[in-house]
Amino acid sequence: MTIDEYLGITKDVAGYLCPEEGYLLYQLASKASSNCKCVLEIGALEGLSGISMALSGRHVISVDLWDNTEVFSKGQIVPHLICDIERYKNNFKNKLLTNYTTYKMTSEEASLKIKNLNEIGLIFIDGEHSYEGIKKDIDIWFPLLKDHLCWFVFHDYANSDKIRQAVNEWLSTHLNNIVDIKGIDSTVAFLFTPQ
Ligand SMILES: C[S@@+](CC[C@H](N)C(=O)[O-])C[C@H]1O[C@@H](n2cnc3c(N)ncnc32)[C@H](O)[C@@H]1O
Repeated sequence: MTIDEYLGITKDVAGYLCPEEGYLLYQLASKASSNCKCVLEIGALEGLSGISMALSGRHVISVDLWDNTEVFSKGQIVPHLICDIERYKNNFKNKLLTNYTTYKMTSEEASLKIKNLNEIGLIFIDGEHSYEGIKKDIDIWFPLLKDHLCWFVFHDYANSDKIRQAVNEWLSTHLNNIVDIKGIDSTVAFLFTPQ
């Protein structure tokens, strides 16, 4: 799928990704290890990142609180975004996509429930946007996904010092296991391989 075709499908879905970031997610999900049927996202909101990855044909596992809270950006309410699971599901339905599973709970709670971990070839971390939040997500998910080839993808890496710090701390102890890196706008992706 070209980026223009991708944009034609996703342009009416609200979310936090710029078009190139969404297309990168689509591409990474498409080329995740063929042994892996699924991709996982922490922080789904209305489904833009999930739909981007679902267009690859992989099964998307989306984890979010979906607590109907208002969405803030730079201290302001973003009026067109609502953290509501029905909006997520409707967006998938409008695109005729059924290849997804939702976990309406915290990232930590989901990590205790999701069992097909060796089928996950990509994790997109876009949930709690603080140093502690990113570190917690890495600490939760890395031990569960480190035994097979897996993309670790982080949103807001380039525009948040705190997120970059948490990711770089993880990276510094696993540099020898990183076999590919991709990035666009604020998103960065590392392909981790066990050695
Ligand atoms: C920036 S939004 C995600 C944007 C989405 N990926 C997109 O493409 O538009 C962050 C989301 O993370 C969710 N979230 C925050 N903390 C979380 C946690 N501890 N566990 C699960 N989801 C969380 C919020 O409810 C919110 O919907």
